[in-house]
Amino acid sequence: MSFPDGFLWGAGTSAYQIEGHHGRGESVWDEFCRRPGAIEGGGDGSRACDSYLRWREDIELIKELGLRAYRFSTGWSRVMPGGDRPDPKALDHYERFVDALLEAGVEPVLTLNHWDMPAGLTWAERSSVNAFRTYAEAVAGRLADRVTWWITQNEPWIIALLGYQLGLHAPGVADLGTAVKAGHHVLLGHGAAADVLHAHPGTKAGAALSLFPCDPATDSEEDRAAAIGSDGYVNRWYLDPLLGGSGYPADMREHWERALGHGLDFVHDGDEAAIGGRSDFLGINYYTRRVMAAAPPAPFPWKVVGPSGDVARTDEGWEINPGALRDLLIGLSRRFPGTPLMITENGGVFGDGPTHDGQIHDNRRVAYLRDHVEAVGAAIDAGADVRGYLHWSLMDNFEWALGYRPRFGLVHVDYASGARTVKDSGRYYARLIAGGGTAPALPRIEAFG
Ligand code: FCB
Repeated sequence: MSFPDGFLWGAGTSAYQIEGHHGRGESVWDEFCRRPGAIEGGGDGSRACDSYLRWREDIELIKELGLRAYRFSTGWSRVMPGGDRPDPKALDHYERFVDALLEAGVEPVLTLNHWDMPAGLTWAERSSVNAFRTYAEAVAGRLADRVTWWITQNEPWIIALLGYQLGLHAPGVADLGTAVKAGHHVLLGHGAAADVLHAHPGTKAGAALSLFPCDPATDSEEDRAAAIGSDGYVNRWYLDPLLGGSGYPADMREHWERALGHGLDFVHDGDEAAIGGRSDFLGINYYTRRVMAAAPPAPFPWKVVGPSGDVARTDEGWEINPGALRDLLIGLSRRFPGTPLMITENGGVFGDGPTHDGQIHDNRRVAYLRDHVEAVGAAIDAGADVRGYLHWSLMDNFEWALGYRPRFGLVHVDYASGARTVKDSGRYYARLIAGGGTAPALPRIEAFG
């Protein structure tokens, strides 16, 4: 397996999920977490991993793991408390942080919007695009001279789906039409931020999409059509306007017009041209795939039916399928030749905690990591231009509506004390990186007695 020189081996986090409050502005997530029942276990991001204070310790962990890249987000509600004017103290913080990464030889991968929008703003309104542009200008003005890789938006589909269609994430809106409109504004935000970044030579701007390969449950024509429709809804609706060169896909546009009963009047003339042609790379967040079958037409003529049966799953029940990642990467590189790809998230919930030796023997995450890195290597060997692999996550953190229960980290966090402990998977990753991506033999689980 041949990972190119300079391949960005890394891991990611986001501001709201790790930093804690510490004087930032109110965000839509602060508001959402106060809704009774919104968060499993009732938690919020007020303390999280306390990384706003413990960031030096986080950098030591990044060094210990030998990461070559670290994906983090600048807190939108920290940089722009109140939404309209930057707080220089916040920018000072991120400047110190980036300088410390660079000094450690770690490439920063900076996300602008990882969901912690300042309270009072909403993607349902077109004015959010200007607010996002102003924020991007503030961060780029400070950091574009030293940060090359910028992720504008994290997971536009998930923002639209969970935030505005199902109401399961901030801001908790449940309305299909608003969701489609909000998704459009998120994409316009990408275009606006990419233009801001491109005024600074040497920066690379891309969005990170949550991509779910969609497979038909059977070979029937109906199920195959369901898989194509679902792919349009989840993947192509975002990929095509960003990278395809001719705006939104026609089949999905017709679908929305039918489902909503009206035209997409929020897509103005010139909007699609302001979204496309501005991506220097594509960020891919890959977790699992969807298996689809035909369903009664409203509001979607398809439904998720699997994967069912006896497949390997994470503790969250998501199928573990590295082969689908390999095929996804190969497919994308054929469809969008010339657009470099970066895995901006990949990981799983494995709930292992410390055993009586104080260590975390998360051997299922070790295997998950090995198999997905191998899949990326296989895609590269087949010609895909993949520039990096950023595991989700560096450490256990606040998993949005699921609270603190799901653990995604290479590093364990004891939330009561804030103590960090590198898991077996973190140590394994360090050896894998040191070997240039060659998988070391899986560690034996030590027996203690
Ligand atoms: C993604 C999010 C990330 C984290 C992982 C598990 O949807 O971008 O913040 O929640 O899932």
